[in-house]
Parts: sequence; C-alpha cells; structure tokens
Amino acid sequence: MDRLRNKVAIVTGAGRPGNIGLAVCEAFLREGARAVIGTDLRTDQSEAITARVAQKYGRERFRLVAHDATDETAWRRLADEVAADFGGLDVLVNNAGIAMHGGILDTSLEDLRKVMAVNHDAPFLGIKICGRLLEAALSRHPGGGAIVNNVSMASYMPNANNISYHVSKAAARMLTLCAAKELGPKKIRVNSVHPGVTMTPLIREGLRGYVAHGLWPSTEAAQAALAAMSPLGMTSEPEDTAHAFVYLASEEARFVTGACLFHDGGIGGIY
Ligand SMILES: NC(=O)c1ccc[n+]([C@@H]2O[C@H](COP(=O)([O-])OP(=O)(O)OC[C@H]3O[C@@H](n4cnc5c(N)ncnc54)[C@H](O)[C@@H]3O)[C@@H](O)[C@H]2O)c1
Repeated sequence: MDRLRNKVAIVTGAGRPGNIGLAVCEAFLREGARAVIGTDLRTDQSEAITARVAQKYGRERFRLVAHDATDETAWRRLADEVAADFGGLDVLVNNAGIAMHGGILDTSLEDLRKVMAVNHDAPFLGIKICGRLLEAALSRHPGGGAIVNNVSMASYMPNANNISYHVSKAAARMLTLCAAKELGPKKIRVNSVHPGVTMTPLIREGLRGYVAHGLWPSTEAAQAALAAMSPLGMTSEPEDTAHAFVYLASEEARFVTGACLFHDGGIGGIY
C-alpha cells in the first residue's frame, strides 16, 4: 500500500475513463503517492473524473490538468506549477498516445508527423523539461527520480497497416534507452512499459478500425483473435497494466534503468 509513499507524479494522457493513464494515477494514489497530477488534451470528462478520484483519495492529492503534451510551452508551465504547488517532482509517466491506421502508401506525411508528435516528441519534451525537477528527487528518495514511458509491443513488431504507430513507438523505445544512459549519472531512472492488448478506449477504436478495413468480421472476433495471440489466451485490463508502472516508479526498482518491461501476456516472445 505504500510503495510510492510521499512521491509526486505527473501522468500524461489520464483524462479518459477506462484508460491506462487514469488507472496509473489511481494505482499511484493507492500506493501512497503524495500527489498525482494527471494531464490530458481532452477536458470533457475532467470534472467528473476529478470529483470521483479526489473524493476517493483526497482533494489535495489529485488534480487533472488540461495540457497538450506536444507543446513545449505547456510543459514549462506544468513543470513550474508542480514545482510551486508540490515542491518538486519524483515520477514522470509519459503515457499519452494516439494511433492511426494505414500503411506507407496511404499515410500522409502530415498524419505520420501527428502520430510522431504525440508518441515520440511529447515524451522527449517531458523528459527534457522535467529532467531538472527529477534530479532533485534524490534529496527525498534514495532511488532518485523515475521516468516511465508507455511504449508498446508495437515498437518491436512490424505491421503493414499501422506504420505511424509502430515507427513512433520504436522511436520512443530508443528515446527511453538513450535517456537512461544520459540521466543515470543524475540518478534519474528511465524505463518503459510495453503493454500488449489492454482493453481501453484506444484499443476499442482500433478494433473498430480493423473491422472497417475488413481485417476482422467484428470487434468481438478481433478481440478474441488478439487474445489468442497470447500464450495466456487473454488481453489485459488497464488496472493490471498499471501495476507495471507502480513497480518501475517505486524504490523497488532503484537498480533498474533502460529496461523494457513487456506486459503483454507473452506475445513479445512469439516474435
Ligand atoms: N491499450 C493498449 O492495448 C495499448 C497497448 C500498447 C501501448 N499502449 C499505449 O498506452 C498509452 C495509453 O493508451 P490507452 O489505450 O489508455 O489510450 P487512450 O486513448 O484511452 O488514452 C490516451 C490518452 O492520451 C490523450 N492524448 C492524446 N493526445 C494527447 C496530447 N497531445 N496531449 C495530452 N494527452 C493526449 C488522449 O486524450 C487519451 O485520453 C498510449 O501511449 C498507447 O500507445 C496501449
């Protein structure tokens, strides 16, 4: 219950019920985080989410901030706000992500850049701008600061129908590894979680896209086929995926950096 005691964390992409970002926020709060700042581009459900989560864990421990993770100025504002209100930052979770269907021949350069902006440029900016705040985490926690990037098994697996997502996630994986090398001496650990299929709004939209492209007859058939790819024969729920983030953000992982944690029911091992 206390694995993240007294830590202050930012989690991007947490503004949608049922998604991984919000599940990570709640898991961090359950594990004793002092404050969790969820952020998201979308704000349509912010009030309802904040009311529910703040009521459960305490109003002073959770806030949901409107924030475009691809915007450098917005990152600077967020870092200043967190430093002023909470006295520092201990954990950054770069979780926001988008996906777009299409192979090379039918993906425009503009669309490729949109996906790269969220899946690669946003974590780059988060690390760049929050890095200095995270350096000071060592004065509060022996394990120092922690960055956890939500990447994907897609970063390892070629796919003919999803070029922008796979390429951007592969770039995010290398960003994690390079940042781990650079920031290790500053006692900031940088790791990535690589979820397999986790049943969130993003994946449900994706399954509908596959059906629209004629790849599966129905979303149920698509989910069953994806579950069957795992040796465990299952997909994940956001609450299960969140456990991997808790571990990498916690002091238990103080000797872990540059690690790519597969949370995929064994799908990665098949490739
Ligand atoms: N669900 C899966 O099966 C799965 C598998 C592997 C990796 N992932 C990764 O997990 C992360 C979360 O995915 P999810 O399934 O919860 O998706 P989701 O769409 O439910 O959540 C992603 C959130 O990111 C937000 N977002 C998008 N662009 C943003 C921006 N510019 N600034 C701030 N927020 C922005 C969205 O509004 C949304 O709330 C993504 O990075 C995704 O690639 C998901």
